[in-house]
Amino acid sequence: MDKFPDVDLTTSVGRVKLKNPILVAAGTFGYGEEYSRYIDLNILGGIITKTITLNPREGNPPPRLAETPCGLLNSIGLENPGVDAFISQKLPFLKELTTAVIVSIAGEKEEEYLRLAERLSKEEGIRALEVNVSCPNVKLGGVALGKDSGTVFSLARRLKEAIDMPFILKLPPFVDIVEVAQAAREGGAEALSLINTVPAMAIDVERRRPKLGNITGGLSGPCIKPVAVKIVWEVTRKVDIPVIGMGGIMDFEDVLEFTLAGASAVAVGTANFTDPGVSVRIIKDLKNYLGAKNITKFSELVGRISLGE
Ligand SMILES: Cc1cc2nc3c(=O)[nH]c(=O)nc-3n(C[C@H](O)[C@H](O)[C@H](O)COP(=O)(O)O)c2cc1C
Repeated sequence: MDKFPDVDLTTSVGRVKLKNPILVAAGTFGYGEEYSRYIDLNILGGIITKTITLNPREGNPPPRLAETPCGLLNSIGLENPGVDAFISQKLPFLKELTTAVIVSIAGEKEEEYLRLAERLSKEEGIRALEVNVSCPNVKLGGVALGKDSGTVFSLARRLKEAIDMPFILKLPPFVDIVEVAQAAREGGAEALSLINTVPAMAIDVERRRPKLGNITGGLSGPCIKPVAVKIVWEVTRKVDIPVIGMGGIMDFEDVLEFTLAGASAVAVGTANFTDPGVSVRIIKDLKNYLGAKNITKFSELVGRISLGE
């Protein structure tokens, strides 16, 4: 039952209007259909798909996952069926949803991103693209692209010229983040997604071997939340661009932290693996919290951290 029907959870990330600020993060929710037997996907603010590339990718050698205290280490390596299979097999399901569908893309070079973006921008049912220039688990593209402000500017500028569809750049955490964020904005990115996983490693001491087949991977989950909150805060106070915040969100209070730091919306990632219903619960809890505090509009809280007395 909706105890507070008057609470307005709508928000916008640039031109992308959302019914509520809770999205699910790329790579942690498949292409949506996998989760449809657990939750009503139309309740979500948005679904960010697993990253797709021009051609199918097999991903990295196993093991690809290792648990760490308060986190998860992964080196999936962007396994995906490629854009053709995405359009013919995954998009028809996603298109029918009323929730915002954001398609994550990656390439090894600028041309590949452009070809993917041009192809997808002709499809119906996609609200925006999330441009992943921050995967720590691939040799080309990924972080190598996202750490350089000149490259990010050029990519954003060419995407802006090529497509009308809004695109959101997903940046890596440990770079000169304000400079790269500024370059993305100047190039024409609608918004930023912050943050991708944090480069990390774990070792099995008995076997004296890395726990991941790829040796290193990306860390996610509650252990990275303070890192992510700081980056969101730093970027939104210095660069005039909306941000989707992510990193370790488990409950509505985590959402509020990102919101107060400056995020206009958030994405829930690793938490989906422990509880597929977590995002739906967070939406309900957020609404009840705002209602109980007599806050009628979620968007009024964005960036409202108090740094004074
Ligand atoms: C298993 C796994 C796969 C992921 N795959 C992708 C991906 O395909 N593309 C991407 O941009 N981010 C990917 N991510 C990163 C998440 O979207 C998110 O940025 C990160 O995990 C931080 O959020 P979290 O701590 O809530 O998981 C992946 C994360 C995990 C744990």
